[in-house]
Amino acid sequence: EIRSVKNICCIGAGYVGGPTCAVLAWKCPDIKVTITDIAEDRIRAWNSDELPIFEPGLDDIVKEARGRNLFFTTDVDGSIEAADLIFVSVNTPTKVAGIGAGLAADLCYIEAATRRIATVSKRGAIIVEKSTVPCRTAESMNQILSALSPSNATFEILSNPEFLAEGTAVEDLLDPARVLIGSMPTTRGRLAQQRLAEVYSRWVRPEAIVTMGLWSSELSKLAANALLAQRVSSINAIAAICERTEANVHEVSSACRLDLRIGSKFLEAGIGFGGSCFQKDLQNLVYLSLSLGLPEVAEYWKQVLVMNAWTKQRFARNIVQKMFSTITAKHIAILGFAFKADTGDTREAPAIDVCRDLLEDGALLHIYDPKVSSSAINRALGPAKGSNVSFQSEQRAYTVEASMQQACVGASALVFLTKWAEFESHAVDWKAIYASMSKPAWIFDGRNIVKDPTALKKLGFIVYQSGVGY
Ligand code: UDX
Ligand code: UDX
Ligand code: ADP
Repeated sequence: EIRSVKNICCIGAGYVGGPTCAVLAWKCPDIKVTITDIAEDRIRAWNSDELPIFEPGLDDIVKEARGRNLFFTTDVDGSIEAADLIFVSVNTPTKVAGIGAGLAADLCYIEAATRRIATVSKRGAIIVEKSTVPCRTAESMNQILSALSPSNATFEILSNPEFLAEGTAVEDLLDPARVLIGSMPTTRGRLAQQRLAEVYSRWVRPEAIVTMGLWSSELSKLAANALLAQRVSSINAIAAICERTEANVHEVSSACRLDLRIGSKFLEAGIGFGGSCFQKDLQNLVYLSLSLGLPEVAEYWKQVLVMNAWTKQRFARNIVQKMFSTITAKHIAILGFAFKADTGDTREAPAIDVCRDLLEDGALLHIYDPKVSSSAINRALGPAKGSNVSFQSEQRAYTVEASMQQACVGASALVFLTKWAEFESHAVDWKAIYASMSKPAWIFDGRNIVKDPTALKKLGFIVYQSGVGY
């Protein structure tokens, strides 16, 4: 009754479902993988030469597998019906209204997808939670399935959270630190777990495939992201102390990294974390703790978010203060808008908050990011002044520029918000950039991009770096 896996369907062709199942199809040519989504434009893009998301290495993988055993379609029902195993990779945004607004995950997309599966899948299938979900979501999914599905259909729910980071998705999927597969402690649950493990074992080291209970697996994803986000907030808190002393956070973090118990990763101070996961997962964890009657635990994790919001705000305030406490009508180059390098994603990007604060204070921004489209910037900040964007919203004083050099022309300050390699390149002609700017010319380095501030100061720049006291 739990069939071996020959046909996989993935509901949701987003940042998680797309890359995950593309790599799976590429690695398992004998399994038919169909990625389905209700968003027609997204599916159209996955079927075109211009994929809807930018991830290094993904284009080649999709090109090789697409049409062979990898398919993208809006036929959600047809894909579900044919599948032995269904990945649920729909979005789980934070609720904006109602109970738990601002904290709890909105499970309406998970519920809708589960209802579709229950109604359409005649034989049943292994259902795999891929999206990050609150602990015990599988329980609700089970209830929906038993209430709606025909009696001879067999379903088994697994939790298989995705740990890929954007910008390195393909690398992370090809060689994951671990693949978690959580199941119910029943014979059928273990069998389903084994079936999914067999799929991954085609390319993942056996030691990295870890099986556990369903609830532990669901919680592990929240825990891992909370611990990572907490490290970033911790080092940002230390950075604030460094700026008020004559310490340098990069020296402090390099000292900490040498302790193997602390480890070397995720100690880069800067302008705060962004991305679709950290904030949402922390909010989830806070909500979960509150609903379990653990207010002290909720308060603890909430502080990670408080520190993050403060870090972004502090960075913007510093800019205003250093530029003689007024930036009204000053031109400022914003270099980098994505929430991190090697992605075009702007979800929860710190750049959004920093730019809004600077606009609020009257600055005129010249924004450049190598991978973020101007329409994405428009959506994040509101339409640019003078643009013919039709939606009703106050127009904002910024332009979107085609290069770093162009963004700097006539600007009084340049502000680094994303650690793109091209900003760090030796090819950057700092002398020419300085010459093209208004004077005095400031650099606000939020991402530790400037490696030799002394050289830039010699050219005439006034340089400020996050976490560096002078
Ligand atoms: C600590 C630092 O480890 C050391 O580098 C510094 O120089 C002095 O402070 P110490 O206090 O001797 O050393 O012991 P440590 O091993 O760090 O443990 C401290 C406490 O944390 C103990 O009570 C230990 O049981 C507890 N602990 C440690 C946990 O509860 N869980 C852990 O995972 C690790
Ligand atoms: C994260 C987790 O890393 C991944 O395992 C999970 O599956 C999804 O969430 P992602 O959000 O894509 O991945 O990127 P990540 O590399 O974790 O960066 C998140 C944010 O933290 C970025 O804005 C980044 O710039 C920031 N960050 C990261 C720092 O500010 N300092 C650091 O040291 C590390
Ligand atoms: P993530 O970063 O978690 O992948 P995205 O928002 O990028 O989130 O992707 C989620 C995708 O799931 C979206 O493209 C959305 O259209 C799709 N989706 C949501 N609900 C359904 C549904 N019921 N059936 C099919 N696709 C869905």
